[in-house]
Amino acid sequence: MKYNIAVIPGDGIGPEVTEQAKKVLNAVGVVYNHTFIYDEGLMGACAIDETGNPLPNDTLELCKRSDAILFGAIGDPKYDNDPSAKVRPEQGLLKLRKELGLFCNVRPVKAYDKLIEKSPLKKEIISGTDISIFRELTGGIYFGIKELSDDGKVAFDGCSYSVEEIERIAHLAFLEARKRSSKVTLVDKANVLETSRLWRKTVTKLAKQYPDVSLEFLFVDNAAMQLILNPKQFDVILTENLFGDIISDEASVIGGSIGLLASASIGDSTALFEPIHGSYPQAKGKGIANPLASILSAAMLLNHLGLVEEAKAIERAVEKSLELEITTVDINSDKPFSTTVAGDFIADYVQNQQDTDMNFQNIYLGQSTII
Ligand code: IPM
Ligand code: MN
Repeated sequence: MKYNIAVIPGDGIGPEVTEQAKKVLNAVGVVYNHTFIYDEGLMGACAIDETGNPLPNDTLELCKRSDAILFGAIGDPKYDNDPSAKVRPEQGLLKLRKELGLFCNVRPVKAYDKLIEKSPLKKEIISGTDISIFRELTGGIYFGIKELSDDGKVAFDGCSYSVEEIERIAHLAFLEARKRSSKVTLVDKANVLETSRLWRKTVTKLAKQYPDVSLEFLFVDNAAMQLILNPKQFDVILTENLFGDIISDEASVIGGSIGLLASASIGDSTALFEPIHGSYPQAKGKGIANPLASILSAAMLLNHLGLVEEAKAIERAVEKSLELEITTVDINSDKPFSTTVAGDFIADYVQNQQDTDMNFQNIYLGQSTII
């Protein structure tokens, strides 16, 4: 089959990790007989520099007509340190999410056995953790009314949610729970926020349609604590936009590195796949960025296109790279490999999945691992 993939490398380490994901997709293409046609678009700080607009119309149109979107990262320190900037790179991503109706962001968090020692958390606490975070992505305080008083002394961010916005992501979370351990935990702040009370009411009602799935509630402050005290208690976490942003970064510590966490944003039209790590500008161009989150995002992209076997091939290759420690410095400080070599290994392994056919010596020489 032929697939049109919109590629948005973005800022910082975005381009270098996305390059590895493309390389791995190409390897999948060779083995399973698919053609991935990539078309690049600008978004973020690089788009502002070139066009003045963080999401040029060309990029939006490209995304709309593609089968899927592979995105790198967004953000640049020159905007982070300038609160008065009129245009910000992040506006590009937020607009893209809104325009494409990408209301559901899925962030899987898994403790890989091989990396258990890399996490600052105790291994008996994190071992066996397997969570899927469902973060609402096009509503809440991110998209509410924003105001600053004329004298600049009072600021306002509004937060609103409708029953419809809550229901559509809740259905997806319950359906996912059915394929997993049949438990949904709704994370909210219903003891304080009106929007959270609407989430609880709506989700409680909707849960009756899924009697085989159990539903639990946690206030977000408690959830933040439970996530590192006893992460194994979670299966699917369902939550609103801001809480999901915060707890998914927190949860990444369980996996040993934020460089491993992939995500899928799905909704009304073309779905988008991206690592949850940011643009990590300090690492840009140094060849030290971990490509695994981007590569695992490509696996989620394949799953979304119904290419389940193909996605599994990538996941197996990633596990092999972890097992053999052909990984970057964030998870391999003793003998780190570069972004490109880590990506090469995974692409090679996808193309040649028999251990016996691999020449692991070559990897140290920066050569292909296929004999
Ligand atoms: C994320 C990021 C974005 C968000 C930023 C870049 C706008 O942190 O995808 O988690 O806050 O949603
Ligand atoms: Mn975030």
